[in-house]
Amino acid sequence: VNIASTEPFAGLMPTHQSIGQFEEGLAKDDPAISAGMLYAYAALAAKVPYVNFTPSTTVDIPALMEFADVQGVVIAGKDGKTGQTLYKTVLAPMFQLRNLRVSGWYSTNLLGNDDGYVLSDPAHLQQKVASKLEALAPILGYDDVDHQVDIHYYAPRGDAKEAWDVIDFVGWLGAKMSMRVNWLGQDSILAAPLVVDLARLVWFAQQRGERGPATQLSAFFKTPLNTREHNFFEQTRNLMMYCDSASRRNGGD
Ligand SMILES: NC(=O)c1ccc[n+]([C@@H]2O[C@H](COP(=O)([O-])OP(=O)(O)OC[C@H]3O[C@@H](n4cnc5c(N)ncnc54)[C@H](O)[C@@H]3O)[C@@H](O)[C@H]2O)c1
Repeated sequence: VNIASTEPFAGLMPTHQSIGQFEEGLAKDDPAISAGMLYAYAALAAKVPYVNFTPSTTVDIPALMEFADVQGVVIAGKDGKTGQTLYKTVLAPMFQLRNLRVSGWYSTNLLGNDDGYVLSDPAHLQQKVASKLEALAPILGYDDVDHQVDIHYYAPRGDAKEAWDVIDFVGWLGAKMSMRVNWLGQDSILAAPLVVDLARLVWFAQQRGERGPATQLSAFFKTPLNTREHNFFEQTRNLMMYCDSASRRNGGD
């Protein structure tokens, strides 16, 4: 399970395109291969299931997706959904189902732990913000929303992350309304049980002979691999159905 600091990413390069090119890159120490990609490659080479709990680009490059398939290894990611995006993907379906048109969603975060410190560097921040922006449009079904996300390193908060959201929406007859959310979470307390469950669930999937992206685990991630399903209720239902069918097949409960 990758839980290292969020890495910068300069975009897809030729080295990332196929496992052949990636291995050539490895041989010549290509700087386009990040530490996160190297760890992912090592896990796949050892046929060990791999989870990316961070927003860093690691196994989700064409070369390593191909390698996961060739090696028959289960992979999952990316970026644990533990706080703001968790409640965003719970609230957004409500607006969508009630036909309340979201015009703007401003999300800010105050974070004072080491993760927050690393993210105060714009190069490291970029992939985190991209990941936090992902969920809204696929749930709402439209993307003309002024969706903004920022993260501030604010040392006094420590691991107690504070998130603020302002949601502007329009109802019947064009009436304008607004909602405020204030989340006071404990970052590591929210993340650690998910990491334990993920380790058990990818191992279980591997034992069942699955390979490649474990889409049944989308509820755990801000940017789930190989699926556009972001609605937390649908994601959880998919996981329940998966567990149900797996336990039936195993003849147990
Ligand atoms: N609620 C959460 O805690 C949460 C939720 C979603 C995603 N994440 C992601 O999980 C990651 C870790 O978060 P954290 O709060 O534990 O951060 P942290 O700063 O407390 O821990 C990160 C650790 O990774 C180590 N590290 C950095 N580069 C490394 C490398 N190349 N190899 C091995 N270790 C390396 C650092 O030394 C540090 O010990 C971050 O990417 C974060 O965005 C955390």
